[in-house]
Amino acid sequence: MKITIFGSGYVGLVTGACLADAGNHVVCVDVDAAKIERLNAGEVPIHEPGLDAVIKRNAEAGRLRFTTDPAAGVAHGLFQLIAVGTPPDEDGSADLRYVLAVARTIGEHMSDYKVVITKSTVPVGTADKVRGTVALALAARGLAIEYDTVSNPEFLKEGAALADFMKPDRVIVGTDSARASDWMRALYDPFTRNRDRMIVMDIRSAELTKYAANAMLATKISFMNELANLAEQFDADIESVRVGIGSDPRIGYAFIYPGVGYGGSCFPKDVQALARSAAEVGYDAAILNAVEAVNGRQKRVLFAKIQKHFGALRGKVIAVWGLAFKPNTDDMRAAPSRVLLEALWAEGASVRAYDPVAMPETRRIYGDRADLTLCSSSAEALVGADALAIVTEWQEFRSPDFDSLKTSLKQPVIFDGRNLYDPAQMARLGFGYYAIGRGQRNK
Ligand SMILES: NC(=O)c1ccc[n+]([C@@H]2O[C@H](COP(=O)([O-])OP(=O)(O)OC[C@H]3O[C@@H](n4cnc5c(N)ncnc54)[C@H](O)[C@@H]3O)[C@@H](O)[C@H]2O)c1
Repeated sequence: MKITIFGSGYVGLVTGACLADAGNHVVCVDVDAAKIERLNAGEVPIHEPGLDAVIKRNAEAGRLRFTTDPAAGVAHGLFQLIAVGTPPDEDGSADLRYVLAVARTIGEHMSDYKVVITKSTVPVGTADKVRGTVALALAARGLAIEYDTVSNPEFLKEGAALADFMKPDRVIVGTDSARASDWMRALYDPFTRNRDRMIVMDIRSAELTKYAANAMLATKISFMNELANLAEQFDADIESVRVGIGSDPRIGYAFIYPGVGYGGSCFPKDVQALARSAAEVGYDAAILNAVEAVNGRQKRVLFAKIQKHFGALRGKVIAVWGLAFKPNTDDMRAAPSRVLLEALWAEGASVRAYDPVAMPETRRIYGDRADLTLCSSSAEALVGADALAIVTEWQEFRSPDFDSLKTSLKQPVIFDGRNLYDPAQMARLGFGYYAIGRGQRNK
């Protein structure tokens, strides 16, 4: 089948690579000429485990191509997938300008039937706008060509995106057209062979399903962070509480880890956008607003602990392990690390930072500055630092050499934003150890 994907970011590239790997012919279109140039030179502009190999073999087989030419893209695919960004607007609502620009492009260039599929996360009602935008562009050309619009929100997780796409838990398809529904089945059949996992529903419900999923996950995180803060007040241990409640199958263990708040390109903007959509229809989304407020506070918790421990921070050097918003990605959008770094700098501290893959992204965001040293290993980051702060739970941080850690740091103090270590062991080893929600001494 012939497929065109607009937007070659985390979602577009993974989708394009996986669809090509199933034997389809895929053209990826992006407006970012530098990105397309890199892709055509065999470079993959993002860090996503396994993606390089899939892109390489499909590009070499001639099934996956990259272009900045939207007309060629529209001409190619029966399926036209929209996977461009939907960043927050100034008021928190989703900015639809990129999605609608693609819809206009499709209307301006199409000459036969298309299935227009929105993969980007978009507010309820966007499919109507996509349909209307295509219709307007066609009308301006004096043409009446048939097309269907589909909402097909994406649920992949950065860091495990290939597996999520290849073996999805579910494929949500929102459409009012039986014809489009059949085409979507044909598209996803190779990925749902052991059992049907396509859930077909009306378009608006499909759009809301994506926000509902992210809002639920964000709620779990904020809930646990609130409980963690309470555990500190009550001198209880949130890790015992976590295991205690996770054993209830109605609650489960997934997504109940306390930490430094959620970040990334999805949860923060999607919770905000849904709250904004709610406000537009006159509904006060009290839970969503609280989830966001708790998260904003939680992102400052590690800094507050550091400040409380040291008092004045001017001249202090803090080693920071982990910059990406979560392990196995280089994505730093809305990352908790950024809140910590910026708060430390504002108080006159400097940072020696290490992340296994997000250093180029850190350099791109912050450039060269005297109060930031990007180190080539976790050990190097410690040298001469007054304390260590752990922000992202990369595997390689889980079992460090505590002896050398102790000798490298000026003072043996660890601020652990991910509860990686055992407080009793840390005490035995002579560390000052502050974690999240682990009793009063962690306050
Ligand atoms: N990143 C995730 O984990 C994830 C998961 C599920 C859903 N989503 C949603 O998918 C969408 C895309 O997210 P992303 O993380 O891949 O974004 P991204 O920022 O990584 O990539 C978006 C790409 O779209 C390109 N673009 C913008 N306008 C264009 C146009 N008119 N034509 C062609 N390309 C254009 C940009 O240049 C960019 O390369 C968002 O709505 C996001 O909420 C993201």
